[in-house]
Formats: sequence, structure tokens, C-alpha cells
Amino acid sequence: MKSFAILLSFLLLSVQLANAAVYQNLAALPSNEQYDVIIVGGGTAGPVIASRLTENPRTTVLLIEAGPDDDGAVDLQIPANYPAGIERKHYWNYTTTPQSGLNGRAITYDRGHVLGGCSSINGMVYTRGAGDDYDRWAKVTGDNGWRWNSLFPLIKRHERWSGAVGGRNVTGQYDPAVHGYEGYSKVALPWSGPNAFDNLCLEQAKTRSEFPYNRDPNSGKPLGLTWAQSTFGGGERNSASKGYLPASVRSRANLNILVNSHVTRVLSTGKASNKDFRTVEIGTTDGARKTVTAKTEVVLSAGSIGTPQILLLSGIGNKAELKALGIDAVHELNDVGKNLSDHIATVAFGTTTVPDAPPVDRAAALLQWNQNRTGPLTEAVGHQILWTRLPKDSEAIRTYGDPSAGSNAPHIEIALMNGLPGQLYGGAAVLLTPQSRGSVTLASSDPFTAPLINLNFLTHPFDFAALKEGVRAMKRFYASPVFSSYIATPIGPDPDAGDAAFEDFTRNVGITTLHAVGTAAMSAKGAKGGVVDPDLKVKGLKGLSIADASVIPYVPTGHSMAPVYILAERASDLIRSRC
Ligand SMILES: Cc1cc2nc3c(=O)[nH]c(=O)nc-3n(C[C@H](O)[C@H](O)[C@H](O)COP(=O)(O)OP(=O)(O)OC[C@H]3O[C@@H](n4cnc5c(N)ncnc54)[C@H](O)[C@@H]3O)c2cc1C
Ligand SMILES: *[C@@H]1O[C@H](CO)[C@@H](O)[C@H](O)[C@H]1NC(C)=O
Ligand SMILES: *[C@@H]1O[C@H](CO)[C@@H](O)[C@H](O)[C@H]1NC(C)=O
Ligand SMILES: *[C@@H]1O[C@H](CO)[C@@H](O)[C@H](O)[C@H]1NC(C)=O
Ligand SMILES: *[C@@H]1O[C@H](CO)[C@@H](O)[C@H](O)[C@H]1NC(C)=O
Repeated sequence: MKSFAILLSFLLLSVQLANAAVYQNLAALPSNEQYDVIIVGGGTAGPVIASRLTENPRTTVLLIEAGPDDDGAVDLQIPANYPAGIERKHYWNYTTTPQSGLNGRAITYDRGHVLGGCSSINGMVYTRGAGDDYDRWAKVTGDNGWRWNSLFPLIKRHERWSGAVGGRNVTGQYDPAVHGYEGYSKVALPWSGPNAFDNLCLEQAKTRSEFPYNRDPNSGKPLGLTWAQSTFGGGERNSASKGYLPASVRSRANLNILVNSHVTRVLSTGKASNKDFRTVEIGTTDGARKTVTAKTEVVLSAGSIGTPQILLLSGIGNKAELKALGIDAVHELNDVGKNLSDHIATVAFGTTTVPDAPPVDRAAALLQWNQNRTGPLTEAVGHQILWTRLPKDSEAIRTYGDPSAGSNAPHIEIALMNGLPGQLYGGAAVLLTPQSRGSVTLASSDPFTAPLINLNFLTHPFDFAALKEGVRAMKRFYASPVFSSYIATPIGPDPDAGDAAFEDFTRNVGITTLHAVGTAAMSAKGAKGGVVDPDLKVKGLKGLSIADASVIPYVPTGHSMAPVYILAERASDLIRSRC
């Protein structure tokens, strides 16, 4: 009996291997295969494009990912494992350069090093940002296809709205009209419903016109107090790989996925003067190199850090900077790695009269999750988010002008927090419209040396002034009489109790929300700046395009994953029209 079972499992295993579309390393990849399109980076955007292109059985695709497959990785499945329960092998181990605006601190800059990329390891918060953000993409690129209204059908195509984990009634907590129901990305409200703190916030919204209740943050008009939606599906993290590469897509004969394989460069195919970059070089730390050439196009989807790194290693960038590293400049594009735009956040806390809740019984919660994928392990990082604009007469706006893309775009996000150990309440204030811009540059011509990530946080004076307004907004929110019996001490540090202490605190605790964009920005055809045209093809080159967060010219006024999904859906249409 036992040997029969072993035989059976062996047979099943070999059947799977024979059909496997996932190759574990470069040596396993059949060398005689040809691909129409090669996608570099199986992160958030990469799986979307691989999935969409291979809907046409005649289009052959190779998707290359530096990290391992996420299949069967339980640390990535349980939502509440974020962040502490995620294994370090699923990260790139980046640290920024010392930040002058953060009192010289160098801070960790996490990225996913696994199929699904950052969507496999992130906080799962699902926010599309403001419609105005996309309308600005259209304006700076001169392509109306990037407008919110043009993208809206693609947004619906990408999403599979899934209600709430566990199936509680969520009528009135989202707007059914702005969601998609047949797409690949599962989006849901968390398992537990409104708690006492949430109800206070809702009560506050009824009386304060500055912070009104807004049923859905994803309508293109996010301003107000909203319920946080997350990329959960059936009580599990629904990353780009889980969503867009289910077994039915992985088994497509025209899709090959190569994991544990690091792309070192893109190379010109044929005569260098053709500027035709359809060849990808894959390498190992021992110096071995191998190339694969696409028939029509190579798509870089290695993210805001990986994509500029690969371009620079390939000699595509600023000539003088490349020369200083001993790299031959094959194509001059000064903005590669420049214009990095990211969100900075600070925190403020006070104490509440409400005693701490008993800690979650992890063993019982795990049992429940194993039973039916519900319970405390299917909670979101937070229940409610407040989106707000700076007052027109604030010092930040009066002195530096309004950098937002339009009147529906928030300047500040406040992630409301309560129930923190030590009877704490308060929140994180995130600056959504920063003026400071950073960069990704090479530390060396070795492709396995981490690049230099400089966020340049709080180097433009608008940013500190605006962040201070964000904490002031939080103060006003909690100053509502609704909270009077809940609050024991007000939030601090107090932005109105002397600049020096508040500034020192902010620069000492300021953190990144890890939303970097802009390092290979799109701009209008023929524009002087920028790296890609509005059709995502690299300026001045043939056969090479970019589709990931790096092409987004201004950081969206929300968390950056949903914008990447939306961008990748349009990228898929643009690329399939070329092959
Ligand atoms: C810890 C964390 C929490 C976050 N929380 C949220 C959140 O809650 N909500 C939200 O909206 N956003 C969040 N974000 C941001 C969001 O996840 C990213 O902006 C978005 O997923 C980026 O997508 P991408 O496709 O551009 O890049 P990625 O998802 O990073 O994909 C790039 C892929 O390319 C691979 N790659 C890189 N270099 C190479 C190479 N040389 N060869 C081969 N492969 C390579 C990488 O391994 C990776 O898989 C978070 C990010 C992090 C890191
Ligand atoms: C990051 O460090 C961990 C160990 O802490 C390691 O397992 C992992 O492979 C490293 N990531 C990369 C991309 O080197
Ligand atoms: C869900 O709640 C709404 C009001 O909040 C109510 O009208 C509706 O009947 C409820 N639906 C179910 C199936 O209970
Ligand atoms: C899931 O299981 C728990 C017990 O572990 C039970 O209380 C709960 O009702 C179940 N939920 C669903 C949606 O089946
Ligand atoms: C990048 O920033 C530089 C100045 O810092 C600017 O001249 C250029 O136009 C920017 N490019 C894009 C595409 O935003």
C-alpha cells in the first residue's frame, strides 16, 4: 500500500515536471526555445504582462525572475505575516545612502526578491490614487490613453472584488460601481467589521466637514475617511503571481517562467548602430553569462531599483557617470535613475483611556486560518485611512505653491491607528505630494553589487512644511468632541509647540512607505527629459520597453501597487499591438 502511494506520487511528480512551465535555474531552461517577448522581472507588473500576452496562444513569452518561485511559500500566504513573518530570503537587502534630511540616517529599503516581487511581501493596501494623478500622466506624456477615464475599463478588467474575508455584510462600506468582478486581482475588506474605534471615527465624520466619510477610496476621488481595501483573496495574500499566474496560466504551452535567474544587462542585437536591444544577458556571481534574444521585444519590469540598475549596467544612461565606472555608454539618456519620487511618513501618538486588548492567541488564530482562511490572521494592517488636502492658507501652500495634480488629489494620508500596546492611539502621516527627488545610481560595474539608493527625503523645504501640516490635520481630527472620553493625552510631538523639537523628531523617525517611482520616467515623444515614450518604448532604441513603477513620473497620491497593476494592464495592450 505504502509503496503504491510512493509510486503514485512519483508518477504525479514526473507528469508535473514534464509539463512544467517553471524552470528553477538557467541550466534547466531549454536552449533551443525562441520567444516573441522576454519580460525581465517577475514582480508586480511582470506577471500581469506575461499573463495577458499569453492569452494569445501564438505569442510566446519568457518571464525571468531573480528570486525564487512563491508557490507553496506559506510565509507569503498568511496576510498577518506582514511584515515580521516574511522570510528574509524573499527580500533584496537594500539600504539607502545616508540621508541628509533624516539627520544622516541610512534606512532599509525593502523590495521583494521572489515571484510576485513587492506584491508578494507588501502591506497589501489597495489604493488607486486620484484620477487627477493619471490625468497628469496623460498631460506630461501627451497621450490621453493614460487618463483616468481611458484607463477605467482596464482597472475593472484587472480587479476581482471579493467582498470581505469571511463574508460579512459590507453594504455601504464600498461603492460597487467602481469595482471589477471578473479580473485577476482579488481585492477585499478585512475579516473583522467596524470596531469601537472605527465607529468613533465615523461619528466624527458626521460632524466635521473637513473629514467627511467617503464610501470608497478607489473611485478616483479619495478625499475623506475611507475603509481600507486590501489585495486579499479567500483569506490569503493575492500577489501578482497568485492573481495573474494561477495554475491555468502557468500551464500555458506558450509561457515559460525562469526563476532564480539574475539579469545582468540588455545587449544590442545585430549591428550596434541598429540600436535594437532585444538580447538579455543572464549571469551568476561566478562570472558565467548566457544570452537569450526575443523575436520582437524585451520588456524591463525589474522595478524602480532594478530597472535603472540594468539600464545603467547596459551602458544606457548619463555618459560621464557611466564612464567614471568604466562602462561604455552605448546610448545616452541622462534621466535613467534620476527623479526618484517616494513618500515619507512620520508618526504621532497619544494615550487612550481604553485598556489594551488581550494579544491575539497566535496558535488558535493559525488553527482557524488553516481551517477556513478566516480569523485574526486575515486582518488588514489598518481599518481606516483618512485622505486630506493642505489648507490653502497653510504656510506650505502659500510659500511653495500647490504641487498636487488636481483638486481631488490628497496631499496627506493619515493611517489611523489604535489598539497599539501601551494604550496608544494616533497614526502615521504620509506626504503624498513630495517635491524632493532622489536617485538610483551604480556603486560599481558589478551587476551583483547593490546600487546606491538616495531618496533625498526632506531636502526640499515644501516637504517638511507639508508633513507638519499633516500632523496638524491629525491633531484636528482627534480634537473632535467625539473622542473626548477616549483620549487620555493628546498626540505628540506637537507641531505647534516649538519647531526644533518637532523637526528633530521628524528627521529622526521619518520613514519611507517604499513607494519609489520615476527612475525611468515616461515623457512626451521628442521631449528632452525622460526615459520612455508614452508607449513605454525606451527613447531612441528599438525592441526595448519598460513597464513597472519606474516609468511613473510623479508618485501617485496613494500606495503604489494598484497604479502599477493599472499601468501593466495598459502596457499589455500596447505590447500586444506590436507583436
Ligand atoms: C515592504 C513593502 C510594503 C509595501 N506596501 C504596500 C502596500 O501596502 N500597498 C501598496 O500599494 N504598495 C505597497 N508597496 C509598494 C508596491 O508594492 C510597489 O510599488 C509595487 O509592487 C512595485 O511593482 P514593480 O512591478 O514596479 O516592482 P517589483 O514588484 O519590485 O518587481 C520587480 C521584480 O523584478 C525582479 N528583479 C529585479 N532586478 C532583477 C534582475 N536584475 N534580474 C531579474 N529579476 C530582477 C525583482 O526580484 C522583482 O520580483 C510596498 C512595498 C514594499 C517593499
Ligand atoms: C538577503 O539576505 C538573506 C539573509 O538574511 C538571504 O537569504 C537573501 O538571499 C538575501 N537576498 C539577496 C537578494 O541576496
Ligand atoms: C446588509 O446590510 C444592509 C444595510 O447595512 C441591509 O440593507 C442588507 O439587507 C444586508 N444584507 C444582508 C444579506 O443581510
Ligand atoms: C471558520 O472557523 C471558525 C472556527 O475556527 C468558525 O468560528 C467560523 O464561523 C468559520 N467561518 C466561516 C466563514 O466558515
Ligand atoms: C527629471 O528631473 C530633471 C531635473 O531634476 C528635469 O530637468 C527633468 O525634466 C525630469 N524628467 C522627468 C521625466 O521628469
